Amino acid sequence: MAKQEDDFKKVISHAKEYGYVFQSSEIYDGLSAVYDYAQNGAELKKNIREYWWKAMVQLNDNIVGLDAAIFMHPTTWKASGHVDAFSDPLIDNKDSKKRYRADVLVEDYVAKIEGKIEKEVKKATKRFGDAFDKEQFLATNQRVVDYQEKATTILKRLGKSLEKEDLADVKKLIEELEIACPMSGSKNWTDVKQFNLMFGTKLGASAETAMDLYLRPETAQGIFVNFLNVQKTSRMKIPFGIAQTGKAFRNEIVARQFIFRMREFEQMEMQFFIKPGSQKEWYGHWKEHRMKWHLSLGMGEDNYRFHDHEKLAHYADAAADIEFRFPFGFKELEGIHSRTDFDLSKHQEFSGKKLQYFDTDENKNYVPYVVETSIGLDRMFLAVFSNSLQEEELENGTTRTVLKLPAVLAPTKAAVFPLVKKDGLPELAHEIIDDLKWDFNVLYDQKDAVGRRYRRQDANGTPFCITVDHQSLEDKTVTIRHRDTMEQQRVAISDVKSIIHKEVDMKSWLMKMK
Ligand code: GAP
Repeated sequence: MAKQEDDFKKVISHAKEYGYVFQSSEIYDGLSAVYDYAQNGAELKKNIREYWWKAMVQLNDNIVGLDAAIFMHPTTWKASGHVDAFSDPLIDNKDSKKRYRADVLVEDYVAKIEGKIEKEVKKATKRFGDAFDKEQFLATNQRVVDYQEKATTILKRLGKSLEKEDLADVKKLIEELEIACPMSGSKNWTDVKQFNLMFGTKLGASAETAMDLYLRPETAQGIFVNFLNVQKTSRMKIPFGIAQTGKAFRNEIVARQFIFRMREFEQMEMQFFIKPGSQKEWYGHWKEHRMKWHLSLGMGEDNYRFHDHEKLAHYADAAADIEFRFPFGFKELEGIHSRTDFDLSKHQEFSGKKLQYFDTDENKNYVPYVVETSIGLDRMFLAVFSNSLQEEELENGTTRTVLKLPAVLAPTKAAVFPLVKKDGLPELAHEIIDDLKWDFNVLYDQKDAVGRRYRRQDANGTPFCITVDHQSLEDKTVTIRHRDTMEQQRVAISDVKSIIHKEVDMKSWLMKMK
């Protein structure tokens, strides 16, 4: 646990030191769970968004994009169920006065049990070496089986109590497990209460006429209310999808873990409109397709897993998370939800406008069913960033900090260095940059010895460093160094662009999804 916390602290401080993420309004001591993306962070975020958009919109001829407003008519949220049901169970500690999500307290307790299982597996791997059979060990080691049973029983009870809205039992569970306030160690808890997560605001010039609005807590509703407009103007036939990326806002109770859980964040969502009855097939399709998208980035199959929901949201008939191994354990990265016709039917009911599709094959009208894929852009950023940050032991006994971002997502693709600041080398370096900058983000660096410049770019996540030396003036060649292998090659300046292109081209990365 201490190592996890330590690793996570390193991620947060690296993100700040290298211009990726800053605390919002830092000069005023910051705003809790609100963050700003700095010069490198803004580029990384843009590249992740583009990687998603290309995979979802550009590569699917039956999916189109949308950019709906953050403000929506307030009835939207009554219809969607958010006014009545978009809440989290909260609990206060009477001594520390700290507020927690009751379900998260229990889940953190279970995560500790899972940590113990992982420890046992590690010990056994060491003990048995190549002969170790993980599956058999998990199924037969009595201590591990007991841990697993305990974790499952706790989660089942939590799920059931939440589903039945039995908040008294959630408190009882916390007391039975003797969960203490992480800040004070006190076990003196209030009752569990529901807390609505939507932020309210007002629209209008005067207090008397102002209209109460909400900041959208998900982008999905902008898609639902535009469903018919888009379908008619694009002449889409079912099955088809509408995708959008944009800000969402939630007044999160547990707002820690850096950009994992924020109060203002960005979602990348796609609603896929289908024939009623075909939801099982499409739910399976999108689960598989979205996992392929993640795996295409090469961040390790072992770092992902599906988690099928036992407790379903008010709109879903099936739901699963794609979980990622964050520095603090496996947590939700993306949700795939079979939302039935709940949203469209509700908007039809509340607006009094028909939201039906005329199916020419079947010669009838119906309200389509929807399968949704929903991923947090900031959470994806954290997955990519934390997984890429590595400390490497080198052969000469030193270590280097390297940010092994997938090259396709790296904010800067190459840094160009003149070996020395004279003899025409800076001029040639600038010439190379002037050519490359039309295709890639590149930067110039002439400060310090080349070794230090390499280290700086390693920590920055830059996949290539190009060094211009005296030989370059004679034969128009440069040294190109690869971030991950640290290998250096002498290549013609005229070949540099194609070498970089081969590694960073979105097409070749996305082709891995096939
Ligand atoms: N439209 C469905 C929906 O919003 P959700 O599971 O509440 O479903 C989808 O959210 C995704 O949005 C999550 O998997 C997560 O990646 C991201 N997300 C949700 N709340 C977040 C928060 N407070 N901060 C950052 N990302 C968040």
